[in-house]
Amino acid sequence: MIPPLNPLLLRLPAYLQEKANAQREAALASGRPVHDFGIGDPREPTPAFIREALRNAVPEVSQYPSIAGTSALRKAISGYLRRRFALDLDPEREILPCAGAKEALFHLPLIALHPERPLCWYPDPAYPVYERAILFAGGTPRTLPLRAERNFLPDLDAVSAAEWKRTSMVFDCYPHNPTGAGAPRPHHEKLLGLAREHGFLVVCDEPYVDLYVGAPPHGALQVGRENLVAVHSLSKRSGMTGYRSGFIAGDPRILRALREARANFGVASQSFVQAAAVAAWSDDAHVEERRKIFAAKRAVLLSHLRKIGLSVGGEGAFYLWVRVPQGETSESYAARLAERNILVVPGTAFGAEGAGFIRLAMVPTLPDCEAAVAAWPA
Ligand SMILES: Cc1ncc(COP(=O)(O)O)c(C=O)c1O
Repeated sequence: MIPPLNPLLLRLPAYLQEKANAQREAALASGRPVHDFGIGDPREPTPAFIREALRNAVPEVSQYPSIAGTSALRKAISGYLRRRFALDLDPEREILPCAGAKEALFHLPLIALHPERPLCWYPDPAYPVYERAILFAGGTPRTLPLRAERNFLPDLDAVSAAEWKRTSMVFDCYPHNPTGAGAPRPHHEKLLGLAREHGFLVVCDEPYVDLYVGAPPHGALQVGRENLVAVHSLSKRSGMTGYRSGFIAGDPRILRALREARANFGVASQSFVQAAAVAAWSDDAHVEERRKIFAAKRAVLLSHLRKIGLSVGGEGAFYLWVRVPQGETSESYAARLAERNILVVPGTAFGAEGAGFIRLAMVPTLPDCEAAVAAWPA
């Protein structure tokens, strides 16, 4: 007899990244140039001062990190929150470093889900981890459709009070992956009002909050902390996807529960990663540089896509959400582009509401974006 394993593993389609890696391998095998707009993993180097901070912090003896991370890191994060959002958070009670946003998002339902309130909501389309986190924690996933006609904001009035009363948590993400949409402050005010009235947790996933075009977007914590945690990441802000570093901040009751739960499954990141994170959260100049790089790529891609008559959304994050030409589906257009080694993700990979769109992550370098534009089918 072989162990039966968790049936969820058979039910879930292959994770996005796995599929994208396979597609990339196939494109590379063609021997022709590959323009990979698939996974949101930028190719610009991690700033030298961050790499140096890591190197300088590698100890002779490497011991277990604490559960809550170093006090230096929690203070650096609180400094960032003060500079960026004019927020004053207590580094001891209201901030918890984590090994990237993905890890934190996956663990949050494990502590937030109450058996009498099985419903957990997440946007459609969305980053796939929300649904999977809910399912692995034993919750009942429910989607909040995000549509172009509502500027990719959920209709919170469409959920009944009875449903909110059976809800443990809601995932929210602005600037949004995959649509690049932003949210006005009243969206978060309303969501947080509902959370307090009905007693559920709101998790605002904000890894793109520093990658904006134009005015900096607000952070959800500026609207309130009670019943709310925000999840931030250095992956995109500082070009540190490989470091695995982020933080959760907000309601101290949730932070305490997460800290206690973490003792069961792990510890904070390696001390040298935490030292690199201190350097990254303490500096804003490198982020300004990165915004300029993404703006240049956006200009090249936007002008081409609009020239060939495609409608494109996305003001934040580093994604372009492109409506496919008439007569195409997300999959057929992605396949047509793949014939030219232009790799994109069909919108349906992010949920049923993604039908009719493709997502471009502006991760290739600027010259590569220019080459992709030249190779784009008319
Ligand atoms: C919306 C969203 N949340 C979280 C993550 C994961 O970030 P991290 O690299 O910090 O785990 C991503 C990564 O693409 C994302 O798009």
